[in-house]
Amino acid sequence: MKTPIVVLLSLLSLSAFAEVDLDKGVAKYLECAACHGDQAQGNAELKAPALSHLQPVYIVRQLQNFATGVRTGEPGSPAWQMAQAVQGWTDIFDKRNVAVAIAKFNPRQQKQTLAGSAANGQKNYNNLCAGCHGKNAEGKNVLHAPALAGSQDWYLLAQIRHFQSGSRGSHNDDQLGAQMQAMSNLLDDWSLLDVIAYINSQPLN
Ligand code: HEC
Ligand code: HEC
Repeated sequence: MKTPIVVLLSLLSLSAFAEVDLDKGVAKYLECAACHGDQAQGNAELKAPALSHLQPVYIVRQLQNFATGVRTGEPGSPAWQMAQAVQGWTDIFDKRNVAVAIAKFNPRQQKQTLAGSAANGQKNYNNLCAGCHGKNAEGKNVLHAPALAGSQDWYLLAQIRHFQSGSRGSHNDDQLGAQMQAMSNLLDDWSLLDVIAYINSQPLN
């Protein structure tokens, strides 16, 4: 009896995003727009990142992480606020619907707001990050690595800081975060700003 169940499960996971209900996802996204913006373009004042460049599969995983306490932060911090917003949200189908609705928005080229030289960051990006995050920071689903191009530079820096301090990637159920934690200490602060400037300069698909 085991084989048919395994086959059925893998078929289900392959077709998971084909069965989404976009209308439900669009309706659900209204709850998110207050912080993330009506086009998922982000809101710097609220420290809420752009979402429109992210792969649906990554969005679903992060929503799971926030809803279950795997990803959170000090009370009052942006990560904590996000965790509060989705705490106890268990419905995985609902999360898939909203993730696909978000992917319909066009990603935006983000302004550079931090110091850093894209030209100086290229080499380190290619050597240290591109293997997982892709040549143009477009992300690689097979490695579970999110797109970084299309994200705001301040958000990228904040996440690297979270990985460095251990506030992201330390939970026992966060093996992918732990992988990134290991990568977060490879660069000194100036080189990191250059790499972020390089990511920021990448064209969006
Ligand atoms: C109260 C404001 C608020 C609401 C409401 C909110 N978010 Fe967030 N969200 C944030 C903030 C702030 C962050 C950044 C957390 C951090 O810095 O770690 C975030 C992070 C995220 C991330 C992680 C992005 C990444 O690149 O890893 C996803 C995905 C996300 N939100 C999706 C949603 C969805 C979907 C909804 C609606 C169901 C939603 N959020 C509702 C404020 C909010
Ligand atoms: C071994 C593969 C790997 C390498 C190399 C790697 N990353 Fe990552 N990175 C990941 C994975 C996997 C995640 C997603 C973690 C999760 O699911 O929470 C991630 C997440 C991130 C995030 C959070 C994105 C978001 O939207 O919240 C940032 C920022 C980041 N990486 C930057 C970098 C930079 C800069 C480098 C190079 C110095 C780098 N990464 C190298 C695998 C990698």
